[in-house]
Amino acid sequence: LIGDAERGEQLFRQCSGCHQIGPGAENRAGPHLNGIFGRRAGSIEGFDYSKGLERAFQDNMVWNIQRLNLYLENPRSLVSGTRMAFRGLKKQQDRDDVLAYLRSYTAS
Ligand code: HEM
Repeated sequence: LIGDAERGEQLFRQCSGCHQIGPGAENRAGPHLNGIFGRRAGSIEGFDYSKGLERAFQDNMVWNIQRLNLYLENPRSLVSGTRMAFRGLKKQQDRDDVLAYLRSYTAS
């Protein structure tokens, strides 16, 4: 991954109102994001997902870099009906950096 995880950590402030990541991360308004790479969409036990993400789960959608990139650019363009109220990260560099940060919390 070509992004800068340290810059991604700063950018993650745009996410941290709703998402936690790292040791002890819990679900808040959004599900925790540990291990998101390779995780099945909508699969955190006990989190009340939208119909859109429930459908993605039923379709066996797995979060990979391409899908995360699309979802972070424009959540509803990838998952219609998602309730993630986030306008999106419109710059590719910003998405690369946040993805590098998220990737650092996925065991390889
Ligand atoms: C879902 C990432 C910002 C609320 C998700 C998912 C990812 C993600 C990967 C899917 C999780 C899964 O399938 O288990 C991010 C990142 C953000 C961000 C990286 C910042 C760049 C936000 C913000 C909010 C939010 C600001 C609240 C205003 C949610 C909610 C869901 C979700 C409610 C579940 C959506 C649904 O059920 O349709 N987020 N998110 N997120 N996020 Fe975010």
